[in-house]
Amino acid sequence: MIKENKKQVEKITSGLNTLLSNYQIYYQNLRGLHWLVKGERFFVLHEKYEQWYTEAAETIDEIAERILMLQGTPLHGFDDYLSESEIEPVKGIKDGKQGVSVVLNNSRQLLERMRIVMEDAGEAGDEGTSDLLSGLISNTEKRIWMLNSFLG
Ligand SMILES: [Fe+2]
Repeated sequence: MIKENKKQVEKITSGLNTLLSNYQIYYQNLRGLHWLVKGERFFVLHEKYEQWYTEAAETIDEIAERILMLQGTPLHGFDDYLSESEIEPVKGIKDGKQGVSVVLNNSRQLLERMRIVMEDAGEAGDEGTSDLLSGLISNTEKRIWMLNSFLG
């Protein structure tokens, strides 16, 4: 477990809460994209969005539980998520390419926040958070690569 330095731990839990909020908006963006997508790539994208939001739901739980392990309180209201999120909610996107661009940009924002928290966790010697984040970072990098390939 983490070396005790209250300020460092608070910095990590606060960063994780921002990441959690980002993920909740990312999750809801994906659900909307899954529901509204139209066009010739419907079958592929409808399924892919579902896979991504299912993964996001699991990640959301892992991040919240990590915050609890660090004696913090995970944000748990839509109002908090909206005010804390760096990711903008999107609405009404039916077009496949446009939807994939949203997922790509959201994923980049998630990655950026993960790297910030990763750095704080490294400084604090918080191996548990570093371990959680390194898995998330490589997953997100892989998704970014796939999304870029899709968009050509
Ligand atoms: Fe569905």
